[in-house]
Amino acid sequence: MRHFLTINDFTKHEILEMLALAIKIKTEHKNGVETPYLKGKTLAMIFEKSSTRTRVSFQVGIYQLGGFGISLSNNELQLGRGEIVRDSSAVISSMVDMIMVRTHMHERLEEFARFSSVPVINGLSDVFHPMQLLADYLTMIECGIFVPDPLLHNVGMKENIAKPIVAYIGDGNNMANSWLMLASKLGFEIRLACPNKYMPHKDIIKIANENAKISGATIVITDDIFSVAKGAHVITTDTWVSMGQEDEKEKRMWDFKDYKVDSNIMSLAHKDVIFLHCLPAYRGLEVSEEVIDGEQSKIIEEAHNRLHAQKGVMVWLNEQNQTKKS
Ligand code: CP
Ligand code: NVA
Repeated sequence: MRHFLTINDFTKHEILEMLALAIKIKTEHKNGVETPYLKGKTLAMIFEKSSTRTRVSFQVGIYQLGGFGISLSNNELQLGRGEIVRDSSAVISSMVDMIMVRTHMHERLEEFARFSSVPVINGLSDVFHPMQLLADYLTMIECGIFVPDPLLHNVGMKENIAKPIVAYIGDGNNMANSWLMLASKLGFEIRLACPNKYMPHKDIIKIANENAKISGATIVITDDIFSVAKGAHVITTDTWVSMGQEDEKEKRMWDFKDYKVDSNIMSLAHKDVIFLHCLPAYRGLEVSEEVIDGEQSKIIEEAHNRLHAQKGVMVWLNEQNQTKKS
């Protein structure tokens, strides 16, 4: 059974196959062509944390593919009252064709996948947010910022930069980890600037460095926000206080105060730089208003691309697993 818990579960070719499918289906949808690739299939979405983009994009995505989505929050499920993951996963997966889970601990997601008879997709855990990264790369592709590959050329994506540079500024969190996975699989340059106390976990860095030996990716990890911005094609950041870290808010505000993306940082980048943010964003904290609401910002296209990237993932996983339910 192929699940999608982290980008590291896939080869470069497989990731690009999903993105090429996303581009193909996006184009079909735009041209008014029916896209019933998952006709009659059901997707359960389990939210143990809040969500706007993930919830709407999965629900709309499965509908546009001819299927049906069920959105379930923790307080509606027996899971929220202490039913064990093993039973919940086995039961829910006996009735649906795919499950998306947003949860606190990555181990909980892995446990969900272990006991599921259908593919499980990571809709965000404390360690990874892979669906966001596929949408981010799709947005980069549409802006002509991507590693050349025949799979993308075949779906009409021709302009590119031989080795894009992405600068991520801020917390070494699930987004930073996911950027490390994506860059190290696809072979672009990722530069992370995080305060020393908030660097990504060494195990994640180790995996990224191993992947980079194969893909030719360049990985730079520093606490210097100015050096990472120089010549970057993409500048991105994330909230300083992720879901579940609310108790640390005051301390984090202080620790991250010098890690804001503002117009000064953007001015160091490539002249055609784009700004990305997974959202929700906090204007005046991790990013200034002039940057996030300025011309270089692609945040709405990026959020919209969650819909298309995830369609590519769902169709790809379905093809791989040939899920059959009675
Ligand atoms: N970026 C993202 O995952 O947004 P939501 O938390 O609103 O789903
Ligand atoms: N790092 C953030 C991402 C939100 C989409 C969080 O985990 O809350």
